[in-house]
Amino acid sequence: MQRLCPRWTVLVLVLSVEAVEAVTQTFHRPPVSSPLSRSEVLALRTAFSAKFGASSGSREPTDLSSGRRLLHGLPMRLTEQIRRDWQLVESDKVQQVKVSPGGPGEAVITWLTQDRRLPSLVEYQSARSVFSRTAQGEVNVYTTQICLPNSQVMADPLLGPPNIPLNYDELTKLLNTSSFLPPESDSWRFLGPNADPWEFLAKTNFCIDYKNPNAYYTSPYIHTVTLRGLGGSTDYSFRPAGSSRSFHFKTPPNAGANAAPMRLGVWADIGITNVSFGVMSKMLDLEPDLLVTVGDLSYADGWAERWDIFGMMMEPLMSSRYHLAVVGNHEIIQNNGVDFIHRYPMPFRQSGAPGPYMFAYESGLLYLIGLPGSYAPTAKGSLQWSFAEEKLMEVDRERTPWVVVVFHTPWYNSNNAHFGEGMKHQWDMEELFYQHGVDLVFNGHVHSYERSFPVYNHSRNECGTTHIVVGDGGNYEGPAIYEGHPPGWRTPQPSWSAFREASYGPGLLTVFNSTHAEWRWHRVACVFENKAHRAVNWTKFTYEGARQSLGRTRPMSAFYWDGVSGPAGGPECATEGDNAEQAYEASDVVMLVRDPQRCPNKSFRQPGTMATAASTGAPVWFTEAPVWSTAAAASVVAAVGMALVLAYCHARGVIHRDRTSSPTMCSMPLRLTWEGD
Ligand SMILES: *[C@@H]1O[C@H](CO)[C@@H](O)[C@H](O)[C@H]1NC(C)=O
Ligand SMILES: *[C@@H]1O[C@H](CO)[C@@H](O)[C@H](O)[C@H]1NC(C)=O
Ligand SMILES: *[C@@H]1O[C@H](CO)[C@@H](O)[C@H](O)[C@H]1NC(C)=O
Ligand SMILES: *[C@@H]1O[C@H](CO)[C@@H](O)[C@H](O)[C@H]1NC(C)=O
Ligand SMILES: *[C@@H]1O[C@H](CO)[C@@H](O)[C@H](O)[C@H]1NC(C)=O
Ligand SMILES: *[C@@H]1O[C@H](CO)[C@@H](O)[C@H](O)[C@H]1NC(C)=O
Ligand SMILES: [Fe+2]
Ligand SMILES: [Fe+2]
Repeated sequence: MQRLCPRWTVLVLVLSVEAVEAVTQTFHRPPVSSPLSRSEVLALRTAFSAKFGASSGSREPTDLSSGRRLLHGLPMRLTEQIRRDWQLVESDKVQQVKVSPGGPGEAVITWLTQDRRLPSLVEYQSARSVFSRTAQGEVNVYTTQICLPNSQVMADPLLGPPNIPLNYDELTKLLNTSSFLPPESDSWRFLGPNADPWEFLAKTNFCIDYKNPNAYYTSPYIHTVTLRGLGGSTDYSFRPAGSSRSFHFKTPPNAGANAAPMRLGVWADIGITNVSFGVMSKMLDLEPDLLVTVGDLSYADGWAERWDIFGMMMEPLMSSRYHLAVVGNHEIIQNNGVDFIHRYPMPFRQSGAPGPYMFAYESGLLYLIGLPGSYAPTAKGSLQWSFAEEKLMEVDRERTPWVVVVFHTPWYNSNNAHFGEGMKHQWDMEELFYQHGVDLVFNGHVHSYERSFPVYNHSRNECGTTHIVVGDGGNYEGPAIYEGHPPGWRTPQPSWSAFREASYGPGLLTVFNSTHAEWRWHRVACVFENKAHRAVNWTKFTYEGARQSLGRTRPMSAFYWDGVSGPAGGPECATEGDNAEQAYEASDVVMLVRDPQRCPNKSFRQPGTMATAASTGAPVWFTEAPVWSTAAAASVVAAVGMALVLAYCHARGVIHRDRTSSPTMCSMPLRLTWEGD
């Protein structure tokens, strides 16, 4: 039965600034910035490491100690260190370094190389130890067909001048197999001098004809190495073999541990524009302990080399803390997410998920569930539904009181862009979330920011969930202001909508304790409408049998970003109606308060779940057994750990969820590396 909370008790949010009802009805500025080339990103990275190093003293010293202070145990001056480590040099054969959580006590390091001979080896060291260790992993590549189904957007990004990954001549060359094949070949295709390559491409549904070997992209070598036996809230340094650089990260706190407020960075819909870079820099500045990307990462859109540019751009952020991500449509519609799966391995096996698009992860007071949302079946009994239910049942609210679910397409969105797209998912799963007292849902997809009040079934409800859309990471499509019929926000603003704005920036959730967490969203980039584009006669694409997207018009850049406007200066860009005290500080700051007494399902605990492990600090990985590192097993510490593990397994009678291993023993988790199945 449902426990419906009276609406007059709705003031569960304690609002720390008066920004709360600061609602945006109209917008001054949308965006735009086109995707950057590899060399442009290199230049940005170089300039950035110099700048960030110099300005990074703004936060408290305690915060600065996190993550990247030590190089093989030797303290160095922070700014110099950061500058050196984040200086991306093209000569470094190791690129796109990033780190994600694996199983308990495990970090999964990935990096890409063009050089086949480089080993998948990492030397790593805890800041608490004088010894370094070495871990061996494996290397993989993937191949994917080049498909440009978003061709309209690629050829004419709304945020900039035409910037396709290939210009017309290059695309023509790629398609024109008559230049190297004899006419009798079934792969022979002839394009005349005046041929429109896009029209040609439309005939094969925007994938280059599979008969053309040039239709395929093969990734660089992707190295994946799992570090084991890591502690929580601990600094590590590491160096992939063959790299001239060292990297540093801090593990997030163990589940249940709450020594200091935990910081969760949340963003989505990022892309590789100047705006993306600005948002990334701001996110770094916020120093999250854990980073979550809620889909639509690179906007490679079928031109997979953009994944490499994205990886280069994001390296400072994603190599210096654990990163988790769910898929968005820009991942899924490109060959079912093959790029994402290989480049961003998530701890799905370790969390008992049936496939790479779902995971559960717990850290500090947070229990985080990642789902494919609308990009997989959502009905009751579907894999997604069942996984979510299983994980929600497992939550121990005393250990991890804050339950957060992330998926790309929102349920609560009052923008006309993508309005109602998540409806089926919502009908299928909202009650499940409500029954289990989910505290927060993070989404992307709509290229704007919107926060709801706690809500259930479209009514404010103190026991409902706070839904936050952060689809404003900076991608080239521009802000959600030009889409929809009519474009922009719906009026009146729904009663559940607390704050909405279509500019760019990252968000940060700071969890203080089991009842209080602060959410803040920072505006970073203001974009401007390009008035000139209205004067231009728009040309319609008229390909035969064209997809709906081809019916769009072809304007000049509709929006632009001047590269400065935003918090650091430049023209004012506060959203109309935003009455925040300091509009550039943080546009939306709110204290979220859990009250399990008023909402009993937020303290719900499945009978039979383990007592809290917080006191021992022992990491407990959902229904899986804790595991130990082979490397550390020789040490006394590991021996003690093993004893604890065995005692624990014995006490719980743990059943390992891996179907291939013995059901009666605690077992090592499967390796995270993707095996191509
Ligand atoms: C809360 O949990 C109980 C089981 O403990 C369940 O019967 C009830 O339907 C749940 N939902 C609400 C809204 O209370
Ligand atoms: C990105 O910013 C750089 C300067 O930081 C500028 O030179 C470049 O033109 C910008 N690119 C785009 C596409 O706006
Ligand atoms: C395609 O290749 C053929 C053979 O080399 C050449 O004659 C033709 O001009 C090419 N088409 C274009 C548009 O370049
Ligand atoms: C949601 O509200 C609508 C009416 O607004 C109602 O018809 C529907 O049954 C409600 N759904 C649930 C799950 O409570
Ligand atoms: C939880 O944190 C909030 C915000 O820092 C604080 O006001 C409150 O007293 C804390 N509650 C407990 C039980 O520590
Ligand atoms: C747009 O096209 C129309 C007719 O097709 C023409 O009359 C008009 O002058 C054009 N406007 C511009 C700005 O070129
Ligand atoms: Fe998006
Ligand atoms: Fe999306």
